[in-house]
Amino acid sequence: MIKWPALLLLLLAQGGAWAEENPELMSRGEELVMGRCFLCHGGTGDSSSPLYPKLAGQNEQYLLKQLNNFKQGQRDSNDMRKVVAEMDEQDFRAVAHFFSRQAPSRGKSAYAEMRAVGEKIYKEGNPEKGLKACRDCHGDDGGGSATLPKIAGQHTLYVETQLALFEERKRTNDNALMQDIAMRLDSDEMRALAEYLRGL
Ligand code: HEC
Ligand code: HEC
Repeated sequence: MIKWPALLLLLLAQGGAWAEENPELMSRGEELVMGRCFLCHGGTGDSSSPLYPKLAGQNEQYLLKQLNNFKQGQRDSNDMRKVVAEMDEQDFRAVAHFFSRQAPSRGKSAYAEMRAVGEKIYKEGNPEKGLKACRDCHGDDGGGSATLPKIAGQHTLYVETQLALFEERKRTNDNALMQDIAMRLDSDEMRALAEYLRGL
């Protein structure tokens, strides 16, 4: 578990991404979010409904990629298709900048046994099934990287849904990396991983 001062040091060590906050993008982003994203994702991206992914503290480049993927039809969602149709690249940059600078939150998992199964797969993968460890790409703390999503603290239902979409090849904007991973997980393992990630 990372405490705040440690997290701050980590962020500074990563090139001071927070230090480079752009005030114009922040205020344009906030305006767009309050007008167009708020209802589903919340005003700071800490969405309270498990149907909608948390975007607070998500990595900027990853957010930008997803918005472009929705716009170009490489990733589909009934809700997001409508949202991005009326936005341009400048708008995407502003909302991605804004959400990436909001404080992330994490949930609490009550299921210790399930969590332990999830933790094992997250850290070690499953060599028998040729499954790579999640942490190889998403990092020890689940924070991802500039281009890889932060998955720590995410809603359980959203994580499970995305893993299933990758497995069914209905989410196809990942260069098949996650499709290959999800194919090697059964639904109990997906559940366990989601349960672990929620509290990470
Ligand atoms: C009507 C509800 C709704 C509104 C309004 C909405 N979203 Fe979403 N958003 C969703 C849903 C549902 C998903 C998950 C889609 C899926 O299942 O793949 C999503 C997913 C996303 C993702 C992908 C997150 C990830 O972790 O991959 C981004 C980025 C995003 N929304 C940004 C926005 C922004 C920016 C706005 C405002 C400009 C916005 N959304 C407005 C419902 C909404
Ligand atoms: C080889 C690298 C790699 C490994 C290993 C990996 N992932 Fe991913 N994962 C990715 C990439 C890349 C994406 C983003 C794809 C995109 O651009 O939409 C992603 C996306 C995701 C998402 C969607 C996040 C969101 O906000 O929509 C989830 C959930 C996820 N991974 C979970 C896992 C889990 C659980 C494991 C381990 C079982 C795992 N990943 C292993 C590369 C990896």
